[in-house]
Amino acid sequence: MLYSDSLSVSPENHLMIGRHDAVALAREFGTPLYVLDEDLMRRNCREYRETLRRFCGDRALALFASKALCTLHTARVAAEEGLGADAVSGGEIYTLRKAGFPMDKVYFHGNNKSPEEIDLAMDSGVGYFVVDNRDELERVNAAAARRGMVQKILFRVKPGVDCHTHDYIKTGQIDSKFGVALETGEAFALHQYAASLPAVRVEGVHCHIGSQIFEIEPFLEALRRMMALIARLRKELAMPAKILNLGGGFGIRYEAEDDPPALADYMQAITDTLRQEAKRLDIETPFLVFEPGRAIVGAAGVTLYTVGSVKVIPGVRTYVAVDGGMGDNPRYALYQARHPALVANRAGDAPTGPVTIAGKCCESGDLIAENVPLPEVHAGDILAVLVTGAYNYSMASNYNRLPRPAMVALRGDDKKIIVRRETYEDVIGHDVL
Ligand code: LLP
Repeated sequence: MLYSDSLSVSPENHLMIGRHDAVALAREFGTPLYVLDEDLMRRNCREYRETLRRFCGDRALALFASKALCTLHTARVAAEEGLGADAVSGGEIYTLRKAGFPMDKVYFHGNNKSPEEIDLAMDSGVGYFVVDNRDELERVNAAAARRGMVQKILFRVKPGVDCHTHDYIKTGQIDSKFGVALETGEAFALHQYAASLPAVRVEGVHCHIGSQIFEIEPFLEALRRMMALIARLRKELAMPAKILNLGGGFGIRYEAEDDPPALADYMQAITDTLRQEAKRLDIETPFLVFEPGRAIVGAAGVTLYTVGSVKVIPGVRTYVAVDGGMGDNPRYALYQARHPALVANRAGDAPTGPVTIAGKCCESGDLIAENVPLPEVHAGDILAVLVTGAYNYSMASNYNRLPRPAMVALRGDDKKIIVRRETYEDVIGHDVL
């Protein structure tokens, strides 16, 4: 039940992450500890780069959706691997800029960019703004005009495609706070308005239908609708609309039964449909952009905890309490998301029964996972929760004033702290008496 090819069991029956013993990492750096398998993150970046090259030549780019895991180090890794980046806030732009990211390859998202964030993005030389709505369009146009520049933009379009994923991470349907609707004519009207503004230039269109999607068809349906929009923009508004950004959302394996399509299968279907549509509409194929986040870092993350207590409630369930919880991984509390787990110091032992992994927050909903098959667990064991690279650290909080864990990156035989553990001083650091 090991979930990536970089996980294995050592002769001492310990979980190995790449070439590193998880138990030794827990001892050296303390727990809870986020571990990032940097080699796997790099392989995932390369898989995107190489698969896009195979199917699209130099007519496509993958952006790392930095919201999945935004640190200076991960930004640098994504840049070194040739990816662009999707940023969604001033904080993410600031991180990318500090990491030396090539800012012309950054797409700035978000449904409510503040004037300060717009300024920061323009001062940082962000390549593209993905504009969400009319108010924002006017703000972006005004900010660019003040600088005497023309800002390249794309609109975030709701293509009206539904996909099967958790309601909280669906975004392509009409009832969404993101973007402008295609089917009501709102999207076209906004493009028309943008054509009249002097300091923005529409370079393409963007959509993102949701996250953790296992089907290919919703991407194809979104693509068909977006291609029809591109054709109208080119023909009726004489807009170049050169870029089609289809967002992220590619599903990954969390549970044994998860079986996401291979990237090459997505790309084969997407590029076949793209060519068909281009032919049918008699337009040139646009430059494709994708924004994978989870697919780049999800499986590359493992969180290590120390078990503090085991509470057997006969006929009910067994709670295994760990030294972290919803503060470092809120995904179960938010989406009932499922993460596999194992006992890192007895990694090869067969499970004896299902347990519930509970955090240490003062809240009954503070669970990391339910019904996880584990061998007998004792206080002092090191528990490894897998596939925690995406949306764990980036959604972490200090609830109950728990300091956020450290993160260590593994590359070959090297290991390096890339986020230091918070101290109590950090936790009270912004309080004023
Ligand atoms: N592009 C846009 C515009 C997005 O909104 C997102 C994710 C992505 C790309 C990256 O999607 P990915 O490839 O990672 O699925 N916190 C939730 C996920 C929220 C996703 C938000 N947007 C979770 O823990 O599952």
